Amino acid sequence: VKIAVLVSGRGSNLQAIIDSIEKGYIKNAEINVVISNKANAYALERARIHGISTVFLDPEKYDRDEYDKAILNILNQYDTDLLLLAGYFRILGNEIIEAYRNRIMNIHPSLLPAFKGLHAQRQAFEYGVKVAGCTVHFVDEGLDSGPIILQKCVPVIPGDTEETLTNRILEQEHIIYPEAVKLFTEGKLKIEGRNVVILD
Ligand code: GRF
Repeated sequence: VKIAVLVSGRGSNLQAIIDSIEKGYIKNAEINVVISNKANAYALERARIHGISTVFLDPEKYDRDEYDKAILNILNQYDTDLLLLAGYFRILGNEIIEAYRNRIMNIHPSLLPAFKGLHAQRQAFEYGVKVAGCTVHFVDEGLDSGPIILQKCVPVIPGDTEETLTNRILEQEHIIYPEAVKLFTEGKLKIEGRNVVILD
């Protein structure tokens, strides 16, 4: 399975997936390219350290349609089977979503459908929930709305700040994202409408 990853920043989820492949937890998979909309994303550095090709696509240089076409070209060039969004802070165009239907995953730091969009952990913290968490889902045309693959919950503990809660959620992100990728690469995810069935 040939994987491409879209990033914008730190890349800790990218790192978790790289490590899972290197350790053999995810088999029959390789990350062929990491694409960023930010030139200085640390995720690009992480990719380089592991010998993975990187591409910076400057959003200033394209209009929206052209930008998505540029991404699609790279995905095709690398024969991509699975596209991962890992802290990619841009909306993905419909053309890519159609071309890679049910082959694009995202990690979101809330228990969807609660707290979609930006700063999900802050939204949860300010709402006063007692349980928070993260979600890996397939990407469709909506915002954080595609079929859910895996979720993990964490408690909100007295004395928590937005930061401590965010860190507790992130630890679980690093577990369930590789797990979801592993299931995909093993052909164990079957989509039935909104429902992702995990085969055994
Ligand atoms: C994570 O919290 C992820 O859930 C969200 O953006 C953040 C990316 O972090 N989509 P990183 O770049 O993977 O470290």
